[in-house]
Amino acid sequence: MAKINDNYLKLPGAYLFSTVARKAEEFAAAHPDRELIKMSIGDVTKPLAPAVIKAMKAAADEMGTAEGFHGYGPEQGYDFLRSKIAECDYKSRGIDIDISEIFVSDGAKSDCGNIGDIFSVDNKVAVCDPVYPVYVDTNAMAGRAGDYVGEHWTNLYYMPCTEENGFMPELPKEKVDIIYLCFPNNPTGVAATREQLKPWVEYAKENGAVILYDSAYEAFITNPDVPHSIYEIEGAKEVAIEFRSFSKTAGFTGTRCAYTVVPHTLKIDGTELNSLWNRRQCTKFNGVPYVIQRAAEAVYSEDGRRETKAAIAYYLENAKIIRAALTEAGLTVYGGENAPYIWAKTPDGLKSWEFFDKILDEAGVVTTPGSGFGPSGEGFVRLTAFSTKENTIKAMEKIKAIL
Ligand code: MLT
Repeated sequence: MAKINDNYLKLPGAYLFSTVARKAEEFAAAHPDRELIKMSIGDVTKPLAPAVIKAMKAAADEMGTAEGFHGYGPEQGYDFLRSKIAECDYKSRGIDIDISEIFVSDGAKSDCGNIGDIFSVDNKVAVCDPVYPVYVDTNAMAGRAGDYVGEHWTNLYYMPCTEENGFMPELPKEKVDIIYLCFPNNPTGVAATREQLKPWVEYAKENGAVILYDSAYEAFITNPDVPHSIYEIEGAKEVAIEFRSFSKTAGFTGTRCAYTVVPHTLKIDGTELNSLWNRRQCTKFNGVPYVIQRAAEAVYSEDGRRETKAAIAYYLENAKIIRAALTEAGLTVYGGENAPYIWAKTPDGLKSWEFFDKILDEAGVVTTPGSGFGPSGEGFVRLTAFSTKENTIKAMEKIKAIL
């Protein structure tokens, strides 16, 4: 008889954002006359940049010609995009990344989840708490997390990020093998400076650990002390894999394009992780559509940069509006200055889900309960700055009115 991967049975409940979406749908069904404003999942609302659309249309036209038609592309991505990434995202910051170290994909979420394929199930994995649920759930699916007991996975090493430590994880007190870091952080919106990241690279070097660095939100960095890439830290190319995405940078959440950097200098027992990831991608992935990669390439054009920067500025302005309104309403807020997420402390000791329900029922605004990101997220809710400005202002008025 066929056997299932029973690690799936150990997963608690549904994926966080599915639960939130279900609650929002139930609210909408029960109150068809009331307005619902979503500030939950980090999904962009601004349309794609004109430069991106122009490139996408031109590529679509090309696909309709005998000369310009593209079938299967390289699994690692087309060189035209990889070379733009190497030049604009790395070389411009003094980082030398070869195009063979860049793997274009359909999303940082998929890559963060799939990367586990190249690591043994025996690795000890460290995650921040609260954390983007994908890191935890995919390790649980692989059987690397142990059992879920009292809100914790028995085999994971949790690094609490709390008000007390400024939401900066502390170095593990025991030896771990794989460390997930995400800066600017999802969900807390807090960003690590170069000085704060250095010890992590040193720890990884000393312990033979690998850092899985999610920098999907780097475009929102405003503080010059915050690195856009972990490779800005000396030695990081020997210990870190970096995940980047066009989703939040250029509004590609529905268009799907991202990339992962696996430097050749990152080796375990002499084996390059680059060649393992290449093998994995060639076997299980057939590349991102040509049209989409041309669209992503256009993000680096002069117009593309100007237009996408304007969208980021728009979202950062929303973040400012949220911070100001919630502060005025008496809440303590974090994040939102180098990230599109605002991490707000619930009032009167309310639990995350209680405050989530209150805001949904009374104000018609959907947030994300902090406890959904891990036990240390209890007592917080996360708001995103990705709504329209009009809805952001309206949502803040509604929240202020009920607090
Ligand atoms: C989030 O809201 O945390 C993100 O949008 C989820 C994602 O990027 O997959």
